[in-house]
Amino acid sequence: MRTGVWLIGARGSVAATSIVGWLALRAGLAEPTGCVTELPGLRSPALPALGELVLGGHEITDTPLLKKAEALAAAGVVPARLVDALHDELVTVDGDVRPLPTADTQAGTAALIAADLADFRSRHGLDEVVVVNVSTTEPAPAPLPAHADPVLLEEALARPGVVLPPSSLAAYAAFTAGCSYVDFTPSTGARLPALHELAVRHGVPYAGHDGKTGETLVKSVLAPMFALRNLRVRTWSGINLLGGGDGANLAEPAANAAKTASKQRVLGETLGYQPQGTTRIEYVDDIGDFKTAWDLITFSGFLGTAMRMEFTWHGCDSALAAPLVLDLARLTAAAHAAGRHGPLPELGFFFKDPIDATAHSLDEQWRILADFVGSLPGGEH
Ligand SMILES: NC(=O)c1ccc[n+]([C@@H]2O[C@H](COP(=O)([O-])OP(=O)(O)OC[C@H]3O[C@@H](n4cnc5c(N)ncnc54)[C@H](O)[C@@H]3O)[C@@H](O)[C@H]2O)c1
Repeated sequence: MRTGVWLIGARGSVAATSIVGWLALRAGLAEPTGCVTELPGLRSPALPALGELVLGGHEITDTPLLKKAEALAAAGVVPARLVDALHDELVTVDGDVRPLPTADTQAGTAALIAADLADFRSRHGLDEVVVVNVSTTEPAPAPLPAHADPVLLEEALARPGVVLPPSSLAAYAAFTAGCSYVDFTPSTGARLPALHELAVRHGVPYAGHDGKTGETLVKSVLAPMFALRNLRVRTWSGINLLGGGDGANLAEPAANAAKTASKQRVLGETLGYQPQGTTRIEYVDDIGDFKTAWDLITFSGFLGTAMRMEFTWHGCDSALAAPLVLDLARLTAAAHAAGRHGPLPELGFFFKDPIDATAHSLDEQWRILADFVGSLPGGEH
């Protein structure tokens, strides 16, 4: 199954790491460490092979992909020897990265985005195209009646003005072009009733939100432990220090609010109550893509005895995110090929703020994911 992966934000850190990693895997220059679809429990002939993927995307910056990859190598995010070895391939992939088009109305812009997707599909003879949003996190938009109704939405988009934030306009264009959509960011994306109806009408699936790669990943393992041992979590506070483009953007209060909201959800859902405490994000330019999260948990046990736990996580955000982007593209393409449309709650394993999720602990999410892969035609284990 030849599968196009169209990255929104194709020259950002996550996208460029995904592209370097995919090229390295395809060339046999790296191990698929971090790719969960390469684990025995999930590896499946129902998924497109890594060699069947084709990557491209939209960008608003014109810094070449190769320059971005070199910067990531200098920062220690990807090995410099891979960027050297993959020089020509990176230049070739950059040929499939297009400037984000704009028109007088958002309907016009969406039509141009859809035309780029159709062109990508036909030039590479693709069976599936998955649009994956890895662009800058946006603030949540003010609600509008057009967000709830596809007819009102189409009318509003045809008039001048901004009706949808960029992530939602990308989802709209993807659906109208028959492409599935994955949101790796906390932005609004497909999470509007009008877009849900559009996805169903066009028979395409979507998944999100906000890749779970660090502090929230650890929370989704630790919180169930407290719940299963009937220990009462009293407070859970965390601070995340990060640099890079994502860190700079998240220093903006509105984008920061979107992110911190999605980081706390796992606690309430897993524990059944919301402990006191907050998650904060701070920008530290010097640490670039390497994030430090420090969490303090206070809890009480039998007869109210007070105890505490702390953990510190030092992660390379893009190296943690990139293999998941490849996993999500493969899984979503296979879901569409199997006739799925609308939300894919089975992919909640990958997200901080999963759409329609029934489970928030990592092991339950894993079981749901493995069952889903096993249920795909041709994917029985
Ligand atoms: N790295 C992780 O572990 C992780 C985890 C969860 C979510 N995310 C999210 O992934 C996204 C990408 O993170 P990053 O570190 O690569 O950020 P980044 O700043 O390096 O990259 C974002 C890219 O998007 C581009 N862009 C911005 N608006 C655009 C638009 N409208 N259309 C096309 N391109 C656009 C920017 O020019 C930039 O190249 C962020 O929203 C982040 O919150 C990352």
